[in-house]
Amino acid sequence: MWFKWWFKSFTWFAAIAMVVGKQVPCNHENAMLLSKGPSYRFAMEVLHAMDFENDGHFVFSPLASWLQLMNVLEGASGYTQAEILKATGHHPNICYRRKLREVLNGLLGNESRTEYKMNSLIIVDELLGVKKEFKEEVTKTKTLEVLALDFVHPNASAKTANQLIEKKTDGVFKDMVFEDDFEDTYFLTYDFANYKSAWMQSFDPLKTKMEVFYGPDGKALGYVRMMNTVGQFYTANLPQLNLNILELPSDKNNQVSMLVFLPQHPSPNSVFSNLNKTTMAGIFNSLKKEAPKTVAVSLPKFEIETWSSPNEMMFDMGMKSMFYLDNAQLGGISKFKINVSMMLQFAAIEVTEGGVKAASVTSGRGKRDLVQFKANHPFGFAIVDKKTEFILFAGMYSGPRRADRLNETD
Ligand SMILES: *[C@@H]1O[C@H](CO)[C@@H](O)[C@H](O)[C@H]1NC(C)=O
Ligand SMILES: *[C@@H]1O[C@H](CO)[C@@H](O)[C@H](O)[C@H]1NC(C)=O
Ligand SMILES: *[C@@H]1O[C@H](CO)[C@@H](O)[C@H](O)[C@H]1NC(C)=O
Ligand SMILES: *[C@@H]1O[C@H](CO)[C@@H](O)[C@H](O)[C@H]1NC(C)=O
Repeated sequence: MWFKWWFKSFTWFAAIAMVVGKQVPCNHENAMLLSKGPSYRFAMEVLHAMDFENDGHFVFSPLASWLQLMNVLEGASGYTQAEILKATGHHPNICYRRKLREVLNGLLGNESRTEYKMNSLIIVDELLGVKKEFKEEVTKTKTLEVLALDFVHPNASAKTANQLIEKKTDGVFKDMVFEDDFEDTYFLTYDFANYKSAWMQSFDPLKTKMEVFYGPDGKALGYVRMMNTVGQFYTANLPQLNLNILELPSDKNNQVSMLVFLPQHPSPNSVFSNLNKTTMAGIFNSLKKEAPKTVAVSLPKFEIETWSSPNEMMFDMGMKSMFYLDNAQLGGISKFKINVSMMLQFAAIEVTEGGVKAASVTSGRGKRDLVQFKANHPFGFAIVDKKTEFILFAGMYSGPRRADRLNETD
């Protein structure tokens, strides 16, 4: 008996010692693992807010914002630092953040990936003198530039910034910085993100037909160019989240997928507040629970561009002090008083038939097993890097807008 008791206490003691004393080594693997949960929760929060702000039709890169906040964090101290750590879930130890930058350099600064581009800028008034250590720290991210510009001459400064970003992105991002941006500010951040679908298996353009797209209430909203394909895909039906989910592999290496989230019933909850109840690992587990099925996929061909200024969202998430000149503790950026004036993001997505491999000729063999996935009413989407589980892009499509709307008579 005593032995059993002793053994039990010993095991407990050993377990506690392991948890308390366990050193999680600071390496790429752990930096990535420890980021999965926080980046997902951050993403759901901002996407939910973006959905509300943009009437259910937008694209946004939660990863770009999350990283930009990590940049501000490197120059923050005191409660400004505490607020950012709390809202973003970034690791308090800088070693992990540096490892994370290295992981992301492979993801965002990798020339061999052509489906997406993500670049960031920080512009500070040159009179404030950006600290060298700050610049060195944040530009460990290959896709970030820090510019000290003359805010008294906004035209010339906007031109300088635009030339740089255009050159760095081979012309993908043009004329993104405006003269007006320099009014009443010292410190601006920009994120530019662009995605163009490149399916592992393309859609056949001959099967793209005009079809009716419905509102959440079932009312026809207009016509969309509906792309159609039949293939083997992972799909899941999750009534607890009110969603049907489909995975469309979106690059030649099968590392990036587009997840499509199709609500099962009209609901006042946003897709993202429902997804907030799970995790990215949870989503992939449900998808992989069963073997891929033969799915008849219908997905509109669409383009969305969204400019956003997430300041207010950041504020609502508790990151308040950085925006106030009198309260911001950003001494790591400049020795002068400074506040974050404006955080801007431009995101664009283009979904077309094109892909790496030609459309397969699977003709829905065994019609009885054929699953329909018809995105003909508002749906959410997310472009996910499967290894890191980071959401590169996400948004909502809620029907034909001017750019997508087709002549309804033909
Ligand atoms: C760049 O991407 C390719 C293909 O996705 C991958 O094989 C390679 O390891 C990446 N390079 C770096 C430096 O991460
Ligand atoms: C700055 O550019 C705007 C238009 O881009 C122009 O209207 C304005 O006159 C320019 N200002 C100066 C000082 O050059
Ligand atoms: C997500 O869940 C957390 C609690 O786990 C909650 O505080 C937050 O408000 C939720 N956000 C959304 C957008 O549903
Ligand atoms: C932030 O700084 C700008 C530029 O000095 C200033 O105009 C603005 O009022 C400041 N915001 C707050 C809330 O202090």
